Amino acid sequence: MPGIVIVGAQWGDEGKGKVVDLMAERADAVVRFQGGNNAGHTIVRGDETFKFHLIPSGILYPATRCVIGNGVVIDPKVLTDEIDHLRDRGVDVSGLRVSANAHLIMPYHLLLDTAGETRLGKAEIGTTRRGIGPAYADKAARLGIRVQDLLDEKILKKKITAALYPKALSLRPYERDPSLDLQSMTEEYLTYGHRLEQYIADTSRLAWDSLDAGRLVIFEGAQGALLDIDHGTYPFVTSSNPVAGAACVGAGVGPRDIDEAWGVAKAYVTRVGAGPFPTELDDDTGEMIRTRGGEFGTTTGRARRTGWLDLVALRYAARINGLTHVAITKLDVLSGFERVKVCTRYRGAEGAQFEDFPYHQTVLHQSVGEYVELEGWEEDLGTCRSEADLPRAARAYLDFVADWIDVPIALVGVGPGRDQIIWLGRDAPTVAAA
Ligand code: IMP
Repeated sequence: MPGIVIVGAQWGDEGKGKVVDLMAERADAVVRFQGGNNAGHTIVRGDETFKFHLIPSGILYPATRCVIGNGVVIDPKVLTDEIDHLRDRGVDVSGLRVSANAHLIMPYHLLLDTAGETRLGKAEIGTTRRGIGPAYADKAARLGIRVQDLLDEKILKKKITAALYPKALSLRPYERDPSLDLQSMTEEYLTYGHRLEQYIADTSRLAWDSLDAGRLVIFEGAQGALLDIDHGTYPFVTSSNPVAGAACVGAGVGPRDIDEAWGVAKAYVTRVGAGPFPTELDDDTGEMIRTRGGEFGTTTGRARRTGWLDLVALRYAARINGLTHVAITKLDVLSGFERVKVCTRYRGAEGAQFEDFPYHQTVLHQSVGEYVELEGWEEDLGTCRSEADLPRAARAYLDFVADWIDVPIALVGVGPGRDQIIWLGRDAPTVAAA
């Protein structure tokens, strides 16, 4: 049976792709369940670096089926480009499957995303401008275009017309934009339909078949818990649910199909886009973390905001995801600091203290981190392969984190390479047994 969901436990960019990649080799299927090409995974394989935005990280294993589930919003231009790019590099993509029920990002979603941000001005969310929010809005408004609609010209045109009608006013500034021409848009999307037809499937059934046969299925989250539209720092969030529970909805499986929930967190914190960030470091230390960690977006190239590890937020993420395991990535980036700080509570306006993640937006905006200082370590961790190889202070750091959030740390990343990892305690038992 095993179903393992892997999610981001911070504000995204935690290194989920690498963790999924490590497990995907033994998996029958890897299923993405939310988000779209706002995400970006970088996988290093030998001398080669692969960057994906939509295709699940398992695609490099020919025996693993890679599924884009119904909960994902798909820009078909990006998807077909990714398929072409992988094929050009000799990667077999025949195991790719795309849910017929997944919604599509249309040209008007891209325009509306940018228009929305421009309208907000200084209060902008800092979206990736990939049309994610407007596409999910249309899905909820029942005006979405789904993958299956690409296979029927008449239905496609009718649905595009219906979707455009209520947007006439907001799209007026773009009325001469050629991407909005109904006929050419229909033709362009029909072409994507022809290209993608061979991959379109009932992916919920595929996941069920694998689980029913006792094979390992990995549910791959995008973004992170604090960008969740319900549980994150609303409105500075993405428009989907990156938490573990959403794997059921976005892949079409039941809660009993999920056996483990792995949360991935960096040894520090980053955030792209606007919104509260209580442990943000707007100084040389923050810059040092950014430079050493290469903290620039895979999708937009934006410099990421950086800060010390926030255990108030991580404990919250552990709770709302029901985490059974945590993977801490990029521990190597913290080498060389005399002291490393971890935030264990927030101080709000007028000195109020919070050990739990505040539910009120204003409180969160005014909160700053209060820290415990731990001993740092000098050693480069890049060659450590077991817990015993780690300096004592690095082990103490991990122990402190695991104790505070009350979830075992099962995996630690000490560099970008696939082998630069340490399994802690036990050897990823479910994965090994699968
Ligand atoms: P959207 O998902 O493009 O609408 O952007 C909404 C917010 O989520 C912005 O702050 C983005 O920077 C952030 N975001 C979206 N996708 C990612 C991601 O994969 N990593 C980190 N932040 C993301």
